[in-house]
Amino acid sequence: MEILVTGGAGYIGSHTCVELLEKGCDVVVVDNFDNSSPRSIERVEQITGKKVSLYKADVRDRAAMDKVFTEHAIDYVIHFAGLKAVGESCVKPLEYYDNNLYGTLVLLETMRAHGCKKIVFSSSATVYGTPERLPLDETCRTGGTTNPYGTSKYFQEIMLRDLYAADSEWTVVLLRYFNPVGAHESGLIGEDPQGIPNNLTPFIAKVAIGELKEIGVFGNDYDTPDGTGVRDYIHVVDLAKGHVAAIEKLNKPGVYTYNLGTGVGYSVLDVIRAFEKACGKKLPYVIKPRRAGDIAACYADASKAERELGWKAELGIDDMCASLWKWQSKNPKGYKS
Ligand code: UD1
Repeated sequence: MEILVTGGAGYIGSHTCVELLEKGCDVVVVDNFDNSSPRSIERVEQITGKKVSLYKADVRDRAAMDKVFTEHAIDYVIHFAGLKAVGESCVKPLEYYDNNLYGTLVLLETMRAHGCKKIVFSSSATVYGTPERLPLDETCRTGGTTNPYGTSKYFQEIMLRDLYAADSEWTVVLLRYFNPVGAHESGLIGEDPQGIPNNLTPFIAKVAIGELKEIGVFGNDYDTPDGTGVRDYIHVVDLAKGHVAAIEKLNKPGVYTYNLGTGVGYSVLDVIRAFEKACGKKLPYVIKPRRAGDIAACYADASKAERELGWKAELGIDDMCASLWKWQSKNPKGYKS
């Protein structure tokens, strides 16, 4: 089976390429390297001993996308390419809509022109906005997103549903990720944020290697067991395997929606303690005011993916922290190390 992975050099994309190659799939990657490095693909090839067909191209570039589909008989597309920083999206909404919505439009039009009608879309728990209830299951209300990044994910889900409503030959899989963390056990690929990380675990990792002074804990007055925010952290390798399970199982047209999470919520302080265990040192932190737009708690009911895809997250918080620490300490400057 030949799979096109857009954004395949990125954090989740590169881990997914490893799992696909290890399952014997042929992998084609399109990436503009806007927020990723071609070195991640070299490392994917090093881990698996297999080759990736790599195109440096933007998904909004029709001619480039047409060339990819002309040169390969793509069976399934996994679409990761897009911008993903919440704060930045509030400052650059048009760039986010252009990249994320227009990019998906061009991709879908090219797929249709080439008769490829199977897509897995990289969605997010952010589409639930403020959770209607916890744990979040796939029937919970979506929308009410609070930033252009989240809204773009929500709109892309709608775009894909409308496409299926108009043409029932499509297979559309919407995977809603909770909080992906950790790295491949080899320590060769991992998350490589540019500048100061916005997300919790890359920030903690940079404090642990001494690049940043202390962790800021955004609020300790939430209605949660220790007052700090609770999230459903999922190991990126488990997440990557969720994509493979979707591709293997879903070959009948339809729209399929799955939460990919563990179903377990950890607080910010739980994560700091788990990371201290992984790196063997005490990590300094200070309590700061709440971050605008944050919610108290968010965790999944992930049972639908288990029932229908036979997929279940297997790795726990200690594996997540240990693998992240291995990646961070082996590659203190990410792919520039
Ligand atoms: C964020 C995005 C979400 C996106 C996800 C990708 C927001 C509002 N949401 O989720 O749309 O899909 O990243 O992984 O940004 N925290 C600290 N100190 C820090 C950083 C974070 O205390 O320096 C806390 C936060 O308040 C939160 C938890 O850690 O309680 C997790 O934060 P983060 O890693 O940024 O993820 P989310 O906000 O859940």
